[in-house]
Amino acid sequence: MIRHFLRDDDITPAEQAEILTLATQLKTDRWQTKPLAGPQTVAVIFDKSSTRTRVSFAVGIADLGGSPLIITTASSQLGGKETPSDTARVLERQVAAIVWRTYGQAGLEEMARGTTVPVVNALSDDFHPCQLLADLLTIREHKGELAGLTLSFFGDGASNMGHSYLLAGATAGMHVRIASPAGYEPRADVVADARAIAAQTGGSILVTTDIAEAASDADIVITDTWVSMGKEEEKQARLDTLGAYKVTSAVMAQAASDAIFMHCLPADRGYEVDADVIDGDQSVIWDEAENRLHAQKALLVWLLQKANA
Ligand code: CP
Ligand code: NVA
Repeated sequence: MIRHFLRDDDITPAEQAEILTLATQLKTDRWQTKPLAGPQTVAVIFDKSSTRTRVSFAVGIADLGGSPLIITTASSQLGGKETPSDTARVLERQVAAIVWRTYGQAGLEEMARGTTVPVVNALSDDFHPCQLLADLLTIREHKGELAGLTLSFFGDGASNMGHSYLLAGATAGMHVRIASPAGYEPRADVVADARAIAAQTGGSILVTTDIAEAASDADIVITDTWVSMGKEEEKQARLDTLGAYKVTSAVMAQAASDAIFMHCLPADRGYEVDADVIDGDQSVIWDEAENRLHAQKALLVWLLQKANA
């Protein structure tokens, strides 16, 4: 059966654990499996800029014996000239999977609807589920477990990262806290979905404007840019409002003494996080960036297994 990965809750808690375990195996033995041998091609489409996602998918697809086809929307017919649906009909005859970084979630859903190959969200305005697989892998490496840990995100709770921490963290049985100023809270429907998942997994969800409430004894402290791609015109208003939510050494001091700091990158040092935190001993950002490779390979292997079952 064809499965897609458009949002973090497209996989069950058991499936998330299965993919993370596979990611650990693939990290230990990087070239152990080549389900894309042929080579089969995977289309990786970008409507927005990328360094980590582009590199990790290209390298990962090659590691799996396949051939990555990187498509920049500006030089393709996608993006106003041809619908996601028609694009999918063309691609599915030739590629094993479609990976797409885009703006609206609706385009991804249209791409996936009725398509005969798996479609993967490589970041949309609403979710960044591939990043979350890498983040959970990183947390598990540093903490040995996921369920029961407290993960606190500071900044734009309505961003793709805020939303994905809610859904993926709840799926992993974590206590997810989102600290955002008024006007930047996560979407109500995403919070409700996360709460419903947490009720099943033993996790919990807290959305607050109070930095100290979110930081207190946290195991993982996280932030992200205040100006996500597509929000550039709101830059000054965002800097003004989100400024109080910067992760500083004072915020880290309120977290657990063995807390780790994470950031999906790219980072604006001095804005959402101070340099002494992101470049300090508690930061695990380079593991997090490397784990994009291992987590996405595991995701692709898993999706291809489901497609061929
Ligand atoms: N974290 C992340 O997705 O980075 P890129 O925008 O460089 O792909
Ligand atoms: N929230 C950020 C993540 C970048 C990887 C953005 O959407 O720009």
